[in-house]
Amino acid sequence: MTNFKWDDSLDVGIQKFNEQHKQLFKCLENLYDAMENKNDKLALAQIINDLLRYAKEHLTEEETCLLLYDYPGYDEQRKQHKIFIEKMTQFANDFNEDKKLIHVEMAIFIKNWIINHVKGIDKKYTEFLNSKGVY
Ligand SMILES: [Fe+2]
Ligand SMILES: [Fe+2]
Repeated sequence: MTNFKWDDSLDVGIQKFNEQHKQLFKCLENLYDAMENKNDKLALAQIINDLLRYAKEHLTEEETCLLLYDYPGYDEQRKQHKIFIEKMTQFANDFNEDKKLIHVEMAIFIKNWIINHVKGIDKKYTEFLNSKGVY
């Protein structure tokens, strides 16, 4: 089930953000692996918390950079990031409250969100940031 490797179609032209996106995929892969191996709840909780923390860090760094350069699509980015974090936090809470199979739904949601967001929204800042000398 780990057919969600980072590839060139996800390249946003900014090295730091590409690395962070790769790391998010790695976290997601860990989540899928843990689910497939039926790891214990504690191990899964750790992975979910790591993913949430790492996603928050990345989204904040992206927003800080876009704001710094006065990116016209900043509000759209911020709005989408906020919705994602709210949804992720809800999933993490549901998981901690022992709602069964919530992580399967969560893993699918995160995977689709990351791919759609990076391809649809993040890639829009490539040209703008590159023109400001950010690569
Ligand atoms: Fe983004
Ligand atoms: Fe991103």
